[in-house]
Amino acid sequence: MRILAIESSCDETAAAIIEDGRKILSSVINTQVAEHGLYGGVVPEIASRRHTENIVAVAEKALADAEMTLEDVDYIGVTAAPGLIGALLVGVNFAKGLSLATGKKLIPVHHLKGHIAANYLAHPELKPPFLCLVVSGGHSHIVEVSDYTKFRILGKTRDDAAGEAFDKAARAMGLPYPGGVHLDRVSKEGNPKAFNLPKPRVEGCPLDMSFSGLKTAVVNILHNAEQRGEEINIPDLCASYQDVICHALVDRVMLAAKEGGYKTIVAAGGVSANSGLRSLLERECKRRHLELFVPPLELCGDNAAMIGSQAYYEALAGHFANLSLNARPTMPIDEDFE
Ligand code: KG4
Ligand code: ZN
Repeated sequence: MRILAIESSCDETAAAIIEDGRKILSSVINTQVAEHGLYGGVVPEIASRRHTENIVAVAEKALADAEMTLEDVDYIGVTAAPGLIGALLVGVNFAKGLSLATGKKLIPVHHLKGHIAANYLAHPELKPPFLCLVVSGGHSHIVEVSDYTKFRILGKTRDDAAGEAFDKAARAMGLPYPGGVHLDRVSKEGNPKAFNLPKPRVEGCPLDMSFSGLKTAVVNILHNAEQRGEEINIPDLCASYQDVICHALVDRVMLAAKEGGYKTIVAAGGVSANSGLRSLLERECKRRHLELFVPPLELCGDNAAMIGSQAYYEALAGHFANLSLNARPTMPIDEDFE
């Protein structure tokens, strides 16, 4: 089964052709990062306009790279939630147009389920059930994946997502957008124990987390130093901040694994590219004899290949949509499209 997949939920316009959920025949990503970087974050209106301008060429290139035409495709998969509504609508309407023109069925895909599926593309042996840490710019979840289309949230952030926490602190420290990757780089020169920062705990809910207090603590450290005319060691602050976030995430995954008896741990989403998170997960999984899967760096961020992979499993489960499909800015991962 060959699926043409479309992704436009944030600031990447992407298309891919995926065979049987596991094989990438082509994957094209047009990123808008440089333009949004001028404003320090994603400007939704600009994102929608760029998606509109680029989506046809991106989809054509995905077909050309796979040496295929639309006729060779069995289904059209598209990210329909969650994300920026204007950005999502470009992909959804484009996919609906393709579906109407070709008669090929439409498969709506949840963006975070796609991030999880990125692992199926890189690890042929990986199959549910497993426990997954999903950490992106908008979400931080600990999810039980009992089957390819069955998800249950065990823990989540109460406020900022891990990626958002990285980006906001990086911005306050004067690092370029998108901050996560720069904070990760600068951390490597710092001492992770230099600053004593608050833990992202939520009283009474050991698998939940809250990053907004941590982020505010960093902003306060920077402001206080500025007022006193003191210099802050930015690499030390980055390293300490990253260390607290990574420990918060990994501690909770290990607790959930112990409580639920999971033997396989999977990481997914943009923040799974973080070097500190990857090495801590590796160390803690090894210590407990848990099997760990992380996506290769090129599949951590937004792409359409992961959407094509999840679309395959949604198709096997009979989860298709008709032309009344709409995009949704928010949607829990444990919900299905109607
Ligand atoms: O999954 P993603 O590409 O988009 C969403 O679905 O949100 O995640 C983007 C997030 C951004 O917050 C970005 O700063 C973060 O992933 N990120 C990182 C790293 N690379 C990307 N955060 C920390 N360390 C990294 N190396
Ligand atoms: Zn994403």
